[in-house]
Amino acid sequence: MTSIDFSIEVDVPAQTNVDFYNSLLQNQPVHVLDVRNPDAFQRGTIEGKSNLTVQNLPYYDFVEDADAAVAQVSSDRDIVVVCAKAQSSQFVAGILQERGYRVSYLEGGMPSWGNFYDVRPLLEAPFGQIIQVARPARGDVSFVLVSDGQAAVIDPLRHLAYYRDAVAQANANITLILDTHAHADHISGGPALAAETDAPYYLHPYDAIHPMDMLPAQMPYQALTDGQRFQLGQLTIETIWFPGHTLGQVNFLVTAPDQSTYLFTGDGLFLESFGRPDLGGKGETWTPVLYQSLFQRLPAMINDQTWILPSHISHLDEGDGEGRFFAPYGQVRRNNAAMQHGTREDFITFVLNNLPVFPPQYIEIKRVNLGLFIPDEEKASELEIGKTSVP
Ligand SMILES: [Fe+2]
Repeated sequence: MTSIDFSIEVDVPAQTNVDFYNSLLQNQPVHVLDVRNPDAFQRGTIEGKSNLTVQNLPYYDFVEDADAAVAQVSSDRDIVVVCAKAQSSQFVAGILQERGYRVSYLEGGMPSWGNFYDVRPLLEAPFGQIIQVARPARGDVSFVLVSDGQAAVIDPLRHLAYYRDAVAQANANITLILDTHAHADHISGGPALAAETDAPYYLHPYDAIHPMDMLPAQMPYQALTDGQRFQLGQLTIETIWFPGHTLGQVNFLVTAPDQSTYLFTGDGLFLESFGRPDLGGKGETWTPVLYQSLFQRLPAMINDQTWILPSHISHLDEGDGEGRFFAPYGQVRRNNAAMQHGTREDFITFVLNNLPVFPPQYIEIKRVNLGLFIPDEEKASELEIGKTSVP
């Protein structure tokens, strides 16, 4: 196909990522018209709540026969057109607007949405703050703890400016960087943040060996141990080994002076599911280990009032439904699919029978996170395309 001239006169309103995300969180009735080609659409599109509908109708259908394409746009809702850059979505939105549709386009297109971060406070208390830094398009969540001018970052994502800004706004300095495990679904910001701040970066040593090729990490890290404690201002952070998703997965149990407790679970336990135990290629061996962590180690370390703060969500309804992805353990126990399979054999059968497709890029991403391969920006973006519904 020759290049297409999109330069028609349009004055279609643009949606910013912030406005668009808020409309998703508020479950407004929105119809997303994704005008990328079907291959790109299949690799991942916009996800929201029950009132969101999504339709794939490639822009070239509108180029070839606009009336026929418009006839396929069935929604009478507000339409948000999305594309790879925002150029073709503006073009399609212009056509729809001319025909009387209520329509806007997503500014920056899918790459911009994929890189959109939502930063919001979870808790402000006399001892300090817990700030959530989420990347909604990918379902990734990370956290900043602040107390007495010190900040710890848990599971930092790749774009470091959000942590820099959040910590600066809290008048704090980053003194501690923690990864709950070596991630396979996204590139960790931990080592880069450590290099930038001189704060130590911690990882469990079992996760500092690539589970596929057994090569050891080639980036600087401090080795976490089970039971290891850190003091962050008025907060105590205890490391709890929680193998299963990976062999070096840990949880961080934070205790405040008022004895409230917060368990940062990484991918060990989510609010409604759990991290798959097969990403090291050894699902049958690691699933019983995950069972022990979930049903023997976990109840011994927390109570029903302990807040669970995972590093991944599957959908926007999780947590409080308003973009804060945490819940008390008592609620997680009732809602979590894994928790309904309490006997060892039942759990193992349930897990092994429900393992999703293994995304091939996960092996490469873990190599990046161990310093075995350093990608440029283009490669890093490519590795992180789409949503990681099961990390
Ligand atoms: Fe993970």
